[in-house]
Amino acid sequence: APDIPVAGIKAHLDQLQSIADANGGNRAHGQAGYQASIDYIKGKLDAAGFTTTVQEFNSGGAKGSNLIADWPGGAEDSTVMAGSHLDSVEAGPGINDNGSGSAGILEVALAVSREHLKPTKHLRFAWWGDEEDGMVGSQHYVDALGANTSKISAYLNFDMIGSPNPGYFVYGYDAKLEKLFKDWFTAKNIATERDTEGDGRSDHAPFQHAGIPVGGLFSGADYIKTDAQAKAWGGTAGKAFDACYHRSCDTSKNIDDTALHNHTDAIANAVWQLSS
Ligand code: PHE
Ligand code: ZN
Ligand code: ZN
Ligand code: ZN
Repeated sequence: APDIPVAGIKAHLDQLQSIADANGGNRAHGQAGYQASIDYIKGKLDAAGFTTTVQEFNSGGAKGSNLIADWPGGAEDSTVMAGSHLDSVEAGPGINDNGSGSAGILEVALAVSREHLKPTKHLRFAWWGDEEDGMVGSQHYVDALGANTSKISAYLNFDMIGSPNPGYFVYGYDAKLEKLFKDWFTAKNIATERDTEGDGRSDHAPFQHAGIPVGGLFSGADYIKTDAQAKAWGGTAGKAFDACYHRSCDTSKNIDDTALHNHTDAIANAVWQLSS
């Protein structure tokens, strides 16, 4: 897989910050900032040659939407998916939660296009709506899959991958997918732990409950970094991984660039390996 340029990811985060600034300070479900976020990501994917679909649903009396982007080609009965929720909470712009995952998978998708990747398996990226009210968008997508459920060979989830006091947590739901991520970090001399904070709390849950193998990465939310974790990863012991989690201070300053970059390069490696 190619190295993913961190400057590209950061440019997307700056755009998401500007969108929040121009729309009352957030990008939440049902708000103008969410629609503008969808328009921004969709524009980049359309220009890069993806086939994009907006899947609408209703939640809490407001229209929600998922953005689905298919890379043409590859065996569709063996589809590899990577997804991130694009909505923020109403309290703030949601740049680490979850501009980080959204911008990371966007930059991986753009690398797929730049490299003219010809994967054996079909590749699909997804940006979910209304995760913050209980994974509403991703649950809607999984409910609508029906007989296509068995065609998804893996779903990879990325929710918070640039936490300012970062950890390196790998989802442990599927041994093969866990190993794929762990081995990449091990080769980079980065220690990982199996994620426990995220259990059932993000968009992988609907896929997992439907029997689809799920994997993912997470850099930590409001759990506190221990002394041992600070020794392994640097940063500050006794402080949350993301002290601005679900707050107005989750801005473009609330990102650790190295963590964002490492996690995104790990995503690219997984996407290349799984789809080859
Ligand atoms: N899903 C949570 C949220 O968006 C964040 C989270 C991600 C928590 C991963 C744990 C693990 O608020
Ligand atoms: Zn890189
Ligand atoms: Zn959140
Ligand atoms: Zn989140």
